[in-house]
Amino acid sequence: MPIVAPSLLAADFLKLTEECQMLNESEADWFHLDVMDGHFVPNISFGPMIVEFIRKTTNKVCDVHLMILEPEKYAEAFKNAGADYLSVHIEACPHLHRNIQQIKSLGMKAGIAINPHTSISALSDILRDIDLVCMMSVNPGYGGQKFIPHTIEKIQQLRSMINERGLKVLIEIDGGVTLENAPSIIAAGADVLVAGNTVFKSADPKGMIAELKAIK
Ligand code: DX5
Ligand code: ZN
Repeated sequence: MPIVAPSLLAADFLKLTEECQMLNESEADWFHLDVMDGHFVPNISFGPMIVEFIRKTTNKVCDVHLMILEPEKYAEAFKNAGADYLSVHIEACPHLHRNIQQIKSLGMKAGIAINPHTSISALSDILRDIDLVCMMSVNPGYGGQKFIPHTIEKIQQLRSMINERGLKVLIEIDGGVTLENAPSIIAAGADVLVAGNTVFKSADPKGMIAELKAIK
């Protein structure tokens, strides 16, 4: 069964309490929280303050995806806000190993997010140090974009690398996930499905989450 991680980016922020309540009552496993700085990505979303409010509504795993430059300046703030997983972008981190050590020493699970153009081989010398790869299947910055099909090959490559080395790193797919493409994403070897618009713009978000969860 996949881990289902709805992205609150697509939620109604004037009804955040109700949206979080809906996720709590659903089969969703994680809350995926997208932080954007207007520099690493062209959009701005929210920061640690909102993560802290969301954290108070749930006991589910809070999976924070940082799309920001200089994440080392904010890792502690996200820990204090209640992040369980903290992912940083490989493209934003010249001293990635140091970022990962910082996240782990703060007591969080460490993730690395990679853009569509970044090759799986770039993870080779850091894979043993992390808990999660957040593989972008769209260019980060906006919800509601179309899934990039080449991602499927990248999932297969990463799955092989993880299995060959006997590691326990989770593969998370982020961007344009739908009921139609999710089966091939899972078949390729992914563990975690992020879904923003597919869940929150559905007429029946809880039902949609259950359908994603039921994918074999
Ligand atoms: C994109 C974000 C995604 C986004 C996914 O930059 O990282 O998490 O919210 O949204 P959908 O599922 O609508 O593509
Ligand atoms: Zn994300």
